[in-house]
Amino acid sequence: MAPINLCFPSHLTLVVIFFLCVVTASGVSESEILLKIKASLGNADVPLRNWNVSAVPCNGNTSFWVGVICTNEGKVWGLQLENMSLSGIIDIDTLVELQNLRTISIMNNRFEGPIPNIKKLSALKNLYLSNNSFSGQIPDDAFNEMVWLKKLYMSYNKFTGPIPSSLTKLPKLTELMLNDNQFQGRIPDFPQNELQLVNVSNNQLDGPIPPSLGKIMNSTLVSVHARTNHHHPLNHQHPPSWVRYIG
Ligand SMILES: *[C@@H]1O[C@H](CO)[C@@H](O)[C@H](O)[C@H]1NC(C)=O
Ligand SMILES: *[C@@H]1O[C@H](CO)[C@@H](O)[C@H](O)[C@H]1NC(C)=O
Ligand SMILES: *[C@@H]1O[C@H](CO)[C@@H](O)[C@H](O)[C@H]1NC(C)=O
Ligand SMILES: *[C@@H]1O[C@H](CO)[C@@H](O)[C@H](O)[C@H]1NC(C)=O
Ligand SMILES: *[C@@H]1O[C@H](CO)[C@@H](O)[C@H](O)[C@H]1NC(C)=O
Ligand SMILES: *[C@@H]1O[C@H](CO)[C@@H](O)[C@H](O)[C@H]1NC(C)=O
Repeated sequence: MAPINLCFPSHLTLVVIFFLCVVTASGVSESEILLKIKASLGNADVPLRNWNVSAVPCNGNTSFWVGVICTNEGKVWGLQLENMSLSGIIDIDTLVELQNLRTISIMNNRFEGPIPNIKKLSALKNLYLSNNSFSGQIPDDAFNEMVWLKKLYMSYNKFTGPIPSSLTKLPKLTELMLNDNQFQGRIPDFPQNELQLVNVSNNQLDGPIPPSLGKIMNSTLVSVHARTNHHHPLNHQHPPSWVRYIG
């Protein structure tokens, strides 16, 4: 075979070089990324049957794939995969490739096992994991560097162990729902000024209610649940008025 002359390439070589350049520039399409994510999910065939190559996920802000929320530029901004009995693996390494992804909800499904390594999704603003069967202790650094995270819902799972301290370092956190798990130990101090809603009811927490939560103003609802947690407010005084006990 004659050597390919790169200075005076044949037409075929040009086509190959052009093709390589285009593929390298555009990368994998969001359609392919989503199909890879679908493939790692259990029980997805029926609820996600319109995730297929007969249509693109996004055309402008119009979505053609169920549960996909699009930006005006036709990129995937959100995934709302709720009430679908989904199970299997949350493929974080593939989700990371969706560069405009800011919100994920997989509430009311059947995911189980340890919490996925979500801190790789460092641009997320909203994460809803409530009402699955996630279990086990959450690594203390699970939320490190998630500096954009505003809303985190993890209620109604089977998480155990301490509330991870990386939650206390999320500068934009406004809503934190941890209720109805098996978290143990003390409620950490939450110094964030923007925190508006915290629910730690129905866990196995004890110790004092941290004074930092008192910074939260009166629009706030801090649910602590007097019976199922074992709370003794600071210095055994009456709980401050901003704590609303439920039940
Ligand atoms: C692919 O999606 C379309 C909707 O876009 C749907 O009508 C069709 O049934 C799907 N195909 C398969 C094989 O599920
Ligand atoms: C979607 O895009 C159209 C046209 O580009 C625009 O008029 C409309 O307001 C957008 N809808 C949303 C919800 O952003
Ligand atoms: C899932 O079900 C809940 C409870 O019935 C409902 O509030 C929510 O809107 C549903 N989510 C979707 C995306 O339909
Ligand atoms: C949890 O999800 C199931 C469906 O998977 C639903 O029937 C149930 O109402 C949900 N529970 C709560 C507390 O949202
Ligand atoms: C907090 O969780 C408890 C226990 O599930 C529930 O009864 C209460 O309505 C929740 N409050 C808020 C504001 O979510
Ligand atoms: C508490 O709520 C009242 C009535 O809604 C409001 O006038 C007041 O400014 C609030 N106080 C603080 C500290 O947010």
